[in-house]
Amino acid sequence: MIALVTGGYGFIGNQIAELISPEYAEVRILDNLSNVARVVRLPNVRLIKTDIRDIGATNEAFDDVDVVFHTAAQVDVVASTREPFVDMDNNVKGTLSVCEAARRNDVSKLVYSSSAAVYGNAASFPIDEAQPIRPLSPYAVSKHCGELYMAAYHNLYGLSTLSLRYFNVYGPYQRPENAYSGVISTFFYNATRNAPLQIHGDGNQTRDFVYVTDVANANLLAASSDAANAVVNIGSGRETSINELAMMIKKMALSDSSIAHGAPRISDGRRSLADIRNAKRIINYEPKIRIDGGLAKLRQFFGDTR
Ligand SMILES: NC(=O)c1ccc[n+]([C@@H]2O[C@H](COP(=O)([O-])OP(=O)(O)OC[C@H]3O[C@@H](n4cnc5c(N)ncnc54)[C@H](O)[C@@H]3O)[C@@H](O)[C@H]2O)c1
Repeated sequence: MIALVTGGYGFIGNQIAELISPEYAEVRILDNLSNVARVVRLPNVRLIKTDIRDIGATNEAFDDVDVVFHTAAQVDVVASTREPFVDMDNNVKGTLSVCEAARRNDVSKLVYSSSAAVYGNAASFPIDEAQPIRPLSPYAVSKHCGELYMAAYHNLYGLSTLSLRYFNVYGPYQRPENAYSGVISTFFYNATRNAPLQIHGDGNQTRDFVYVTDVANANLLAASSDAANAVVNIGSGRETSINELAMMIKKMALSDSSIAHGAPRISDGRRSLADIRNAKRIINYEPKIRIDGGLAKLRQFFGDTR
């Protein structure tokens, strides 16, 4: 069996490629190298340097592929507000191209990386998949658009698709500027230098931080599940405030950093918490890494790389 990971050198894609490599004879990574987090070096993993918007090249790369994990995207929320057409071009056209190549090559499963950004500021918690779509950025629109293509290709052609809505993913090789969980890398960076940990607003805003290996595992489970044409939340099912996060990281890094509160950012939601019961029911997903364990792993990673 052959698997293909679009964006397989990215923050999440590299973990998927590594996790699935023992399960498949060959893992193809399709990446345009625009935002490489880590190069995966394994005997059965190979790079095809291509842009997913190039339908001809993407179609060729999908030859004989059984399962596709589609992670490639423009992921910068702020950039999407500055350059909405760039975001639309990459995420909408790119995802359509992936759907077309999957259909033409009779792919048996297409797992799409969507985002909890589609919920915007949710009205009730925990957030389940039935909550209304309230995009607050062009990025959120483009991610939802991808979900709609997944549904359309299922309904039209019987393509077996699943959309996973990730919450705030964190882990090794994540860049500090990442809108989802870059705060964790930034806090670690500052804590190890005893520099202040800067919090926007009162710090009581919460996020559902999910460790990147749990997200990779959710992809593996989705690929082997019989379920199709569904959207599934992938989070930890727990909420952590930014104040708690700062305290945990400060303690772990044995840091003397002060914790400073600045002006709130208007774009920041007050709460985020995933309802993950659907994920358990549909793909048997259960997060394995709690926030304290995930932060401990990260501290070790930063210790090894800095
Ligand atoms: N990181 C998070 O917390 C988070 C949360 C929700 C959803 N997501 C979704 O998960 C997916 C992966 O996110 P990430 O954080 O790993 O991003 P990333 O930027 O680290 O990885 C994306 C990868 O795709 C590649 N790429 C981008 N555009 C491409 C194109 N047109 N053709 C080929 N390759 C292209 C980049 O080079 C990179 O290797 C994205 O679809 C994102 O929307 C991420």
